[in-house]
Amino acid sequence: MIRNILITGAGGYIGGSVATKFATQKDGPIKNTKIYAAVRSKDQTKSASIPGLAVLQLDCGDYEAVKDVVLNNHIDMVIHTASSMVASYSQNLLEALGERRKQSGQETGVLTAFTDMGGWRYGQCKDSDAEIFTKEKGIGDVHPTDILIVEQSKALGVKSFILPAPYVYGRGTGDWRKLSVSIPQYIRTSMRLKQVYKFPEDAAPAATHISDLVSLYKLLATKILLGQTPPANENGYYFPFAHRIPWYKTMDLLAKAMHSRGLVNQPHVEIWPSYEKAADEYGFPRQFIRAMGASSGDIVAEKPFELGWKPQWDEKKYLENIDQEVQDFLELDSGKASIFDALTT
Ligand SMILES: NC(=O)c1ccc[n+]([C@@H]2O[C@H](COP(=O)([O-])OP(=O)(O)OC[C@H]3O[C@@H](n4cnc5c(N)ncnc54)[C@H](OP(=O)(O)O)[C@@H]3O)[C@@H](O)[C@H]2O)c1
Repeated sequence: MIRNILITGAGGYIGGSVATKFATQKDGPIKNTKIYAAVRSKDQTKSASIPGLAVLQLDCGDYEAVKDVVLNNHIDMVIHTASSMVASYSQNLLEALGERRKQSGQETGVLTAFTDMGGWRYGQCKDSDAEIFTKEKGIGDVHPTDILIVEQSKALGVKSFILPAPYVYGRGTGDWRKLSVSIPQYIRTSMRLKQVYKFPEDAAPAATHISDLVSLYKLLATKILLGQTPPANENGYYFPFAHRIPWYKTMDLLAKAMHSRGLVNQPHVEIWPSYEKAADEYGFPRQFIRAMGASSGDIVAEKPFELGWKPQWDEKKYLENIDQEVQDFLELDSGKASIFDALTT
């Protein structure tokens, strides 16, 4: 029986929202597990306020510390949202779960959010494609974390489930960071420049409201806890993509919402003179700006829906909520998200 669940990156937007949901479950098998939330700083452990959530400080880059946390707290499932860009974090968690499995004989698993499908060169990409892992391996170094997760999981007898976070939006429910990455960074930069800009090309990236992403983690974890083990490892890709978002419409609405609050000089959107200029102004790494800014991709999500996932947010609801995104930013912004640091260092 799976005893306890560890959520990494719980001081962040996605991990914090997942931790809150899991720790406050009133019924179902998650209620019978102990939820550990791993945060990076000591200060965060002191300011924790969610009842039922055991908060601990952990640097995912420190293997000995990761192993101690997993073994001492009988962790059999890790939801890893700290950073998918740093493959060694996943490796440390998998090795620690492998150790736990050896000691307890218990099945162990990791669910992970990771970045977009940048670098894919096989046309349409479906999470149900039996060849997805082989294809991903075929594009070499582009997705090292996924390859490591699948190969290491198999070698260590750990089950892994990969959830590549799309463009996530909406107000988070964690104790610490409650804002996502992209929209807040666009708002922050537009405020500084007193102008909203858009990329030279329109796009329609896949997106999911944070509450729907959290509900997918809950669904998957519930099934695992009930022993209905969904396909894992090379068949363990679950694209949490609820709908697409029209990029130019998003920026138009953002400009209007910001102008009505006096945050920018005009309600109209200008076009960035180049992607490089946009990257420098947003503080995004230049090599990732197209993927981060507005990549569309022919990505098809099937597996979450087969599990019974029912997202509550769609494109219409998303567009109607842009004004609220600006309001949330003004109320909750605490500065640029640290995931950019991992990309630029
Ligand atoms: N939000 C999105 O729209 C989106 C889209 C695509 C992919 N993703 C991916 O999904 C994951 C979670 O995203 P998010 O929006 O929740 O990001 P976030 O708010 O920045 O959360 C990440 C958390 O991980 C923590 N962390 C980083 N390195 C750590 C380490 N070595 N040890 C312990 N904790 C560490 C960070 O701590 P600090 O707060 O101290 O920095 C932060 O609290 C990231 O991998 C991100 O790239 C997110």
